[in-house]
Amino acid sequence: MKCSKCGGLAVINMRQHRLRLCTSHFTEWFATMVQRTIEKYEMFSPADKVLVAVSGGKDSLALWDVLLRTGYEAEGMYIGLGIDEGIGYSDKSLAMCRQFVTEHHPGAVLHVVDLGEEYGQDIPYLAHTRQRGRGKPCSVCGLVKRHIMNRVARDGGFAAIATGHNLDDEVAVLMQNTLHWQAGYLARQAPVLLERDGLARKVKPFVRIYEREAAAYALVRGIDYIYDECPFARGSTTNFYKELLNQLELQSPGAKQQFYLQFLQARDKGEIRFAGEGAVELRPCRRCSQPTTAGDLCAFCRLWES
Ligand code: AMP
Ligand code: FES
Ligand code: ZN
Ligand code: ZN
Repeated sequence: MKCSKCGGLAVINMRQHRLRLCTSHFTEWFATMVQRTIEKYEMFSPADKVLVAVSGGKDSLALWDVLLRTGYEAEGMYIGLGIDEGIGYSDKSLAMCRQFVTEHHPGAVLHVVDLGEEYGQDIPYLAHTRQRGRGKPCSVCGLVKRHIMNRVARDGGFAAIATGHNLDDEVAVLMQNTLHWQAGYLARQAPVLLERDGLARKVKPFVRIYEREAAAYALVRGIDYIYDECPFARGSTTNFYKELLNQLELQSPGAKQQFYLQFLQARDKGEIRFAGEGAVELRPCRRCSQPTTAGDLCAFCRLWES
């Protein structure tokens, strides 16, 4: 297999882009793709300080790597959730983030917030008491992560929080929201959520990067990451939709990208509109002062009260 640019040995075939690239042309293409996405959706500018939420997985570490290599001022943030499940999931994830800094960017700043140390309880405990042992902890976990990310971004004066959500993640969520006609979620699903009323800006620079491209980038750059996904995500509906979409992609290369990008385009042009697009009013929480729609206390503070 030959590189479409230089005729050298290609290491990846991206049928959806009709491109086969060698190691150096792939890393160059990857960085350009991310840079163009940042510019197209006006995520942040070179003068901005960005907080990259790193989980120790391939996407977020690849993202931090590209941003640093492109010259952005990007600091990392890892949230220790206290998930063990017999595989030491959280400890291993943190170790991968630290190893990434030591091996690839020794000067980079990594902020670490440990839920247990700072707030006294971890995710499995919180989910267990709140849900009385029923269901998965993912929704409580999402709430906690959003709260802590926002706090760190606000306190540190960051222009934006960048997460490693890739095209496969976004398209699976889009499919789920479409199958259930979740108008409110469809209205808000976007590569950029602008800052407002104490909520930090949130951006996803990998929205046009396929999951296998992020994995290939981590591989060719020699970035080691945690291969296990969160033990609680096993068998999730998102993973089920990802599998279905991959079957579709196999028959029709580019289908995932089209589904997602054409949705964004149609919504931006006003060709499709959803109820619930108007901004909901936010007020500061009495306890932590972070913005909430919920009245007196935000959902994070209510979690600890209960
Ligand atoms: P997930 O919801 O696990 O697919 O993760 C989506 C994105 O959230 C990742 O790409 C990271 O940017 C961020 N993230 C997930 N877990 C953590 C964590 N423990 N600490 C910091 N950021 C995280
Ligand atoms: Fe939070 Fe899996 S990462 S429950
Ligand atoms: Zn080449
Ligand atoms: Zn609060």
